[in-house]
Amino acid sequence: MRQPAAAEQRGDGRNIVLIGPMGSGKSTVGAALARRLHRPHVDSDHFFVARHGSIPEYFSLHGEDAFRAEERSIVAELLDSPRPSVISLGGGAVLSADTRGLLRDQLVIMLDLTEDQAALRLGDGSSRPILGAHPVQAWKRIYAEREQIYRDCADIVMSPDDAHIDVRVDHIVRALNTTSRRDPSV
Ligand code: S3P
Repeated sequence: MRQPAAAEQRGDGRNIVLIGPMGSGKSTVGAALARRLHRPHVDSDHFFVARHGSIPEYFSLHGEDAFRAEERSIVAELLDSPRPSVISLGGGAVLSADTRGLLRDQLVIMLDLTEDQAALRLGDGSSRPILGAHPVQAWKRIYAEREQIYRDCADIVMSPDDAHIDVRVDHIVRALNTTSRRDPSV
């Protein structure tokens, strides 16, 4: 977890950034949270698709390194938003040290999930090329590789939550209101 920084306040003008593993609900929760907070919502995967087309096709044509480079520049663009926004990042965005550096100035929420939830939510995994032919096994491996990175970047960690989307948003809003910055584990 990130260490407390002096003189920081909750609810200030920073972006709220959702990070976490594939299937954790960053896009759907981000959109609902943004509606609740009356902020714009942007999603790095959606932005990528609008600019470059489908992610699986991009991976197969250009490879993961090219995807990561584009993702890094899109994330930097989105984090530089003129209005405080809710920003959902693709699950691998935090692999970039540059992106992790930029996240230090944002309010970062990790959405966690269990392996069982991932198995239900990922389907055949075809929309996520990094999962390959055995999505759940790949997801588990990738989760283990990245979990600490997510936690280190986060100000708030939301435990796995199976509630209705509106209730998940309630939980996050409560965490935002009651959790002191950089004191996660909600
Ligand atoms: C990826 C996660 C995906 C997407 C891409 C790579 C990853 O986003 O950016 O397929 O490496 O974890 P979601 O986390 O929204 O599924």
